[in-house]
Amino acid sequence: MTYARFTVFFTPKFAYIKKKYYFCNLFARYIYMTQQDLLAIKQRFGIIGQNAQLNRDIEIAVQVARTDLSVLITGESGVGKEHFPKIIHAFSARKHGAYFAVNCGAIPEGTIDSELFGHEKGAFTDAKSEHKGYFEIADGGTLFLDEVGELPLQTQVRLLRVLETGEYLRMGSSTVRKTNVRVVAATNLNMRQAIDDGRFREDLYYRLNTVEIRVPALRDRKEDIPLLFRKFAVDFCNRYQMPPLSLNDEATRLLQDSYWRGNIRQLKNIAEQIAVIEMDHQISADTLRKYLPQEENRQEIVLREPSRNAGKDYSHELGILYNMVMQNKKDLEELRALLDSSTRNIEISKYRNHDKAPAIDLSPSREAEEILPIEDNLRIDEGERERIRKALALSGGNRKVAAEKVGLSERTLYRKIKEYGL
Ligand SMILES: Nc1ncnc2c1ncn2[C@@H]1O[C@H](COP(=O)(O)OP(=O)(O)OP(=O)(O)O)[C@@H](O)[C@H]1O
Ligand SMILES: [Mg+2]
Repeated sequence: MTYARFTVFFTPKFAYIKKKYYFCNLFARYIYMTQQDLLAIKQRFGIIGQNAQLNRDIEIAVQVARTDLSVLITGESGVGKEHFPKIIHAFSARKHGAYFAVNCGAIPEGTIDSELFGHEKGAFTDAKSEHKGYFEIADGGTLFLDEVGELPLQTQVRLLRVLETGEYLRMGSSTVRKTNVRVVAATNLNMRQAIDDGRFREDLYYRLNTVEIRVPALRDRKEDIPLLFRKFAVDFCNRYQMPPLSLNDEATRLLQDSYWRGNIRQLKNIAEQIAVIEMDHQISADTLRKYLPQEENRQEIVLREPSRNAGKDYSHELGILYNMVMQNKKDLEELRALLDSSTRNIEISKYRNHDKAPAIDLSPSREAEEILPIEDNLRIDEGERERIRKALALSGGNRKVAAEKVGLSERTLYRKIKEYGL
């Protein structure tokens, strides 16, 4: 009997059917699960969109999460790269470990090695005590190196070593330490260009780029633009307690045909501005046009060029310099007007109680000269904050473009944005 049962079970035909059924089932489950999982992941991480490339990117992130492979996330500024390292961490075996996101562009060049690898007491003048770096505190977890293309070359050497061997040295120490950190990096740089310019090590690029996730630009996922706009509009209208926004067909088409240099960040900014500023919340194409960047801002740049490479054609730099000079001239005029009015106020308050006040001298007085440095400082900070705010608004949140507009390096701009709470 046992023998008979055994025979029936393993007849070649039955085994074939069973195998076929098993794979069909697995395949069906895979498709079904993927759709369900995708939806759940998007909800969990606040990702809006149905674009096929975006879906593929999420699938890749989930697949590679189980491995310890290095992942490089590329894509233009504002496309949503920062979701992916979070997905990778959440679906990895390290999910209960630490997750740190480090913006390599925002840390001053002089302290970045210490931030990443730590230092010993006395390693440099200000090193009053020992300091643990991210590779130490993220041990067993995931480290997201954002804007990795901005890393200085000497840091790239250290990074390559820790990626290859898991070993690193704290600054000021010769003791080799071990770490088990999974690195996910992101960049909006054209890395090929950065390598050609000698700004980024090729060996490190290949080490980081074991798997690449390319996040599509917004203009390449037009079908998602109305969805995203609707979501942002609902959020901002709720936040500012404004009536709901709606776009007519022409406005929707205009939205879909725009270039979106600053991608989703820019779309989000525009939705916020419209939600706050527009009284009539039925938005027409004409209304929308006021918020879109001018035609000349549309340039075919897929991934931005590294900033140091900009030396070949100086017309762009001349434009920036011209803008800076004009801005300084305007600031000077405003400062002069302010100085005039404060001089007048000083003179008036000085003689307010006198029966006969002398004629007001509008030339700068001694008092005015004395208060100038303080006023000057205040104005420069305020002026700079305002200039950066405007530049960010005009560039749709694209920090590279904004940095060029205000004539700062991107690294400095990152810090100023943080400092001014922009
Ligand atoms: N699919 C999406 N759904 C909803 N919001 C999104 C989506 N993608 C991006 N965003 C939002 O757009 C903004 C920009 O995204 P993010 O900061 O990830 O861009 P980035 O690619 O890292 O840009 P950068 O290179 O300038 O750092 C964020 O506010 C983010 O929440
Ligand atoms: Mg980012």
